[in-house]
Amino acid sequence: MDVAVIGTGHVGLITAVSMATVGHRVVATDIDAEKIGLLTRGDAPFYEPGLEEALRSELGSGRLRFTDDAADAVGDAEVVFICVGTPPRADGEANLIAMERSATVIARHASRDPVVVEKSTVPAGTADRLRTTLLRESGGRVFEVVSNPEFLREGTALADSLHPDRIVVGAESDRGRAVLRRLYQPLTDRGCSLMETDIPTAELAKHASNAFLALKISFANALARISERAGADVTAVVDVMGADPRIGRAFLSAGLGYGGFCFPKDVAALERLAARLGYEFPLLREVAKLNDEAVDAVARKVEEALWNLDGKRVALLGLAFKPGTDDVRFSPALALARTLISAGAVVVAFDPRAAAGAKDELPDLEIAPDAYEAATGAHCVVLATEWEEFRNLDLVRLRSVMAYPVLVDGRNVFDPVDVVAAGLAYYPTGRPVRLQTAKPEARSGIAS
Ligand code: UGA
Repeated sequence: MDVAVIGTGHVGLITAVSMATVGHRVVATDIDAEKIGLLTRGDAPFYEPGLEEALRSELGSGRLRFTDDAADAVGDAEVVFICVGTPPRADGEANLIAMERSATVIARHASRDPVVVEKSTVPAGTADRLRTTLLRESGGRVFEVVSNPEFLREGTALADSLHPDRIVVGAESDRGRAVLRRLYQPLTDRGCSLMETDIPTAELAKHASNAFLALKISFANALARISERAGADVTAVVDVMGADPRIGRAFLSAGLGYGGFCFPKDVAALERLAARLGYEFPLLREVAKLNDEAVDAVARKVEEALWNLDGKRVALLGLAFKPGTDDVRFSPALALARTLISAGAVVVAFDPRAAAGAKDELPDLEIAPDAYEAATGAHCVVLATEWEEFRNLDLVRLRSVMAYPVLVDGRNVFDPVDVVAAGLAYYPTGRPVRLQTAKPEARSGIAS
C-alpha cells in the first residue's frame, strides 16, 4: 500500500521503517529539514538498536523515502499516519497543535481519499477534532479517521513494532477497519492479534496502559520507602508479589522512577482529561508525586552517605531515562544530577549513549569518557541508569580510584555481597544499607 508518515520522531520513524520492512511503499515527512537530510543519507537522528541498519536497507530497497514537503508525502497516500509530538502544556494537557497542522496538510493535499491514522498518543476525543479540521480545511470532504495507538518501547522499538503484543484499531466504519486490516496483514499473518474497538476506546486504552504501568512503578517505589523503614528488601517483596500471575513482576522495579517522553506526560494528560470530563482521578497525581519522591529519596541517600554535599564529587553512571536509548527527556538521572548540583556537589557523569544530549540539557554536568574515569577522585558513585555494561563493572577497580568507598544504587543492579566484598559501602534503594565490614578493632590487653 502507499503509506505516508507525518513526523519522524521515535514513533514516526519506527513506523515508517517497519511499514517499509513489511512491504509497503512509504514516504515520511517532517518539518525539520535537517533531520530529513540526515534520514535521506541513511543516518538515524537518534540511537535505537538496529534502526540505522534497517533504515539503510529500506532506503536501498526503494520502498522508503523522506521529504520535507508534507504535501508531496501525503499526495498519493492511501493511508496517512500522524505521528507528530503531543508534548505537555504547562497545565498538563497535551498540546495538539501539531495534530491540527497535520490534518490541515492532509485536507489540502491528499488526492486519494486516504484513511487518516492517529498514531500519536492523544486524549480521547481527538479523532473528532481531526475529522472536523479535515472537513473544514478540505472544503467539505469527509475523511476516514482511525485511532491506532502505538505501544513500542524505546530501546526495543523495531522489534516491538514488527512483533507487537497487540495491534489496536479504533474505527467507526467498515472501510476504516478494512484498510487497516490490509495494512497490518503482514503482521496478523504471522500471528499478531488485532483488536478492533471504537475510536474513544482505542484512544483511552493507550493512555490507560501507560498510566497503569507508571502506577505499578510508583507503587513499587512507595514500597521501597516502607521497606527502608521496616528493614525489608523491596526486590524480594516485589518478587513475591510478581509470582502471582494476577499481579506480574514486570514494571515493579523500584529505583529512581520512570522518565522518558511518554509516562510523565501521559499520566498528567489522563488526569487532565478525566478532570475535563468531570471525573476527579487524584490517584494519578499521587503516581506523579511518588515518582518525584523517588529521585529525592536517592538524593537523600547520597547526603546520608556523604554528610554535606557542598564540594563533594559525585560520579553518576547513566544519564538516559533508561538503558538502550540516548533519550534524556524527563530522565530521572538528570533530575538527580540537578538536585545534587544545586546542593553544591560536582557531578561527573558517564553514559554510553546519552552524554551529549545530557550536557545540552545541563551544561553544569561534567562528562567522563568511561565509568572508571567518572569515579576517579569521586566521594560517591551513583548508578542511575541500568546499562548492561554497568552490571559487569570491576568493583574493586572502581573502589581503587575513588576518594571515599561509597556506592549508591538507584536501580538495585548490584549484588550487595559483591559490593561489600569490593570494600564499598552499599546504599541500594528499598533494601538494607550494607556498610563495609570494618577492620576488627585492636584488642585491649585484657585476657579473657
Ligand atoms: C513506554 C511504554 O512502555 C510503551 O508501551 C509505550 O508505547 C511508550 O511508553 C509510549 O507511549 O510511546 P518507554 O517510554 O520507551 O515506553 O519506556 P519504558 O520501558 O516503559 O520505561 C519507562 C520508564 O520506567 C523508564 O524510565 C524506566 O527506567 C522506568 N521503569 C520501568 C522503572 O522505573 N521500573 C520498572 O519496573 C520499569
